[in-house]
Amino acid sequence: MQSDQDKEALKKEILKLKKDRKAILLAHNYQISEVQEIADFLGDSLELSKISKAAKEEVIVFAGVRFMAETAKILSPKKKVLLPVQEAGCPLAEMIEPEQLIELKQKYPDAWVVSYVNTTAEIKALSDVCCTSSNAVTVVKNVPVKKVIFVPDKNLGWWVQKNVSEKEVITWPGFCFVHEYFSLKDLEETRRIHPEAEVMVHPECIKEVLENADYVVSTAGMLKKAKESKAKKIIVGTEEGMIYRLSKENPNKEFYSLGNAKVCTNMKRTTLSDLRRALIKDEYKVDLSPETIDRAQIALERMVSYV
Ligand code: 13P
Ligand code: SF4
Repeated sequence: MQSDQDKEALKKEILKLKKDRKAILLAHNYQISEVQEIADFLGDSLELSKISKAAKEEVIVFAGVRFMAETAKILSPKKKVLLPVQEAGCPLAEMIEPEQLIELKQKYPDAWVVSYVNTTAEIKALSDVCCTSSNAVTVVKNVPVKKVIFVPDKNLGWWVQKNVSEKEVITWPGFCFVHEYFSLKDLEETRRIHPEAEVMVHPECIKEVLENADYVVSTAGMLKKAKESKAKKIIVGTEEGMIYRLSKENPNKEFYSLGNAKVCTNMKRTTLSDLRRALIKDEYKVDLSPETIDRAQIALERMVSYV
């Protein structure tokens, strides 16, 4: 267990290393508080993808999970992208294999493949366009065909179909183990305890939760809604790391987790010591084949051009 003094010393050292290495530190909204505090940018998947693409620095240190660091590498292939903890993966991204997607493409040859960014680089390379939770509906509305294969998250796929009724959305049974376990009972019970509160949830939640929430938004969407909303109490259906940022940026409002707080253990793996080691030892470089980068880049660039 590190003391506050140790943490502050480590933070200073990381900031210096970052400067010496001409590195930028990007962190996802679910990261632990001390990592959030020293990040150059903190955001949702879409914001972080855009920043990785535009970054001027030579090195990108990604405090997040593997698919996010891979996305940064695909969008900025000449840069060195470091994922400080090699095992920080996203189980949802592993829920579809390239062979399974190839089979789906053969079954529906006239459909476009829209893959959620929470996928491996190999899946992106087999996709026509990518999307994130904040732009999935817009992306599917924009594709120039009537039928899409949407992988891998079934809940986000359901949400897209509900909002884009003019298209047929073929979904895949993947899910996020953090969001899948917020139940309708949790929602009803938390609303009963805080009847005046608004409810905002991430689109990876199950459909019964999505149907009964006030807002269905990405993590960046939650920050925006929380600022705009007149409600003083807000119930949040996503990973608990969001509550830290929401509370910090809205000190006059109260945030409650929808049911028991849920933790994405992979997002919590990256510590200050990992960031220090990553910057000293250049660990762990994201390495993708040039063919995968070229093909996946088409899908990611198309997403950026649609939104
Ligand atoms: P956001 O893009 O909304 O931050 O979501 C990423 C994610 O992994 C949610 O579980
Ligand atoms: Fe993946 Fe879920 Fe963690 Fe997001 S919260 S990184 S979807 S496991």
